[in-house]
Amino acid sequence: MDSVTTLFETHFNRKPAHTVRAPGRLELLGNHTDYNEGLVMAVAVDRYIYMASSPRSDDKVHLVASSFAEAEEFEVTKLETNPNAPWADYVKGVIDQLQKRGVRVGGFDAAIEGTIPMGAGMSSSAALEVATALTVRALYPYRLSRQGDEKLELAKICQAAENQFVGVKCGLLDQVSSLFGQADHAIEIDFQTLTVEHAPMVGDVAIVVCNSGVKHELVGGEYNELRAMCESAAKKLGAKFLREVSEQELESHRSRLTEREYQCAHHIVGENSRVAAGVIALRAGDFAQFGKYMFQSHSSSRDFFKNSTRELDILVDIAHESPACYGARLTGGGFGGATINLVKRREVDAFSAFMSAQYRERAGIEMTPLVCKIADGAS
Ligand code: GLA
Repeated sequence: MDSVTTLFETHFNRKPAHTVRAPGRLELLGNHTDYNEGLVMAVAVDRYIYMASSPRSDDKVHLVASSFAEAEEFEVTKLETNPNAPWADYVKGVIDQLQKRGVRVGGFDAAIEGTIPMGAGMSSSAALEVATALTVRALYPYRLSRQGDEKLELAKICQAAENQFVGVKCGLLDQVSSLFGQADHAIEIDFQTLTVEHAPMVGDVAIVVCNSGVKHELVGGEYNELRAMCESAAKKLGAKFLREVSEQELESHRSRLTEREYQCAHHIVGENSRVAAGVIALRAGDFAQFGKYMFQSHSSSRDFFKNSTRELDILVDIAHESPACYGARLTGGGFGGATINLVKRREVDAFSAFMSAQYRERAGIEMTPLVCKIADGAS
């Protein structure tokens, strides 16, 4: 928090009125299930986007971000993408959505700093959206929902910003995780009923992230293509979403689908079953069983959904050889990014050293594993 305050003071020559922080997330189990109205388990982690801000008397927004050389300025009444500062689109998108819901957003100055590695699949963009929504709420108080869950409404606004302003048809997972995180707990989300529960995740377990070093680029066609494939498979199976389809139904109506649609549907339907079983394993403290589901999930990504990469596969193979590791899989959208590893707490250092050395040898890439703590949601 201190350094974002300093960044704000240095750039704007005054003190910030508010500072918020929104955590990144890791998907534990349940890959691409969110937009199929499925089940996911995730955690918010102790890596954050910090945003320090103060209101302005005009309608301008001035942004500065430590990770980007270019500052950005715009008027709240004129929200346009700027190819020279694409990171600011996430902020503009949220302002746009708030305005569409009747919120009066005035001008403000904001400094942004982050500890979430970018492109690792840890949702730095969702954290920036959530930080923006909370910043605007602190400066120009608004309420989105009279009865419903305010946090869920915030998540939907942030998702709509990404869908409409940035153009990625992401689900709700990243935004929900950043808002609903709870220290030492896994978040269990059912995207059909939109219910969120928390299960303790403590004991001889630690979360280690291994970044493959291969850039993950969600603002590309692959994600939207996979989503379209899932939607057309659901339609041909007579369902609105793949969540409604059982393994037996999928197999008995396989001939209705193209091979690619079948592969995608197989992954999603299998992921939903694995999450349902994973919830039981985790609640029983059975990390070994939970870890098996993680390995299975990765194999399904690699062989069916095809959103893995050679480097992610190497990382999971190495982890599989380590007796310290309960389970490992790619986390998030895929096509690069990182793996999440569930590791015996006391063996984290040895595991990390093993991963680095083996990855260097097999992929020729230097990689330092990141040990993450499960954190509270945005505030
Ligand atoms: C990205 C998206 C999420 C989710 C995951 C895959 O992180 O933003 O909505 O679909 O990929 O599970």
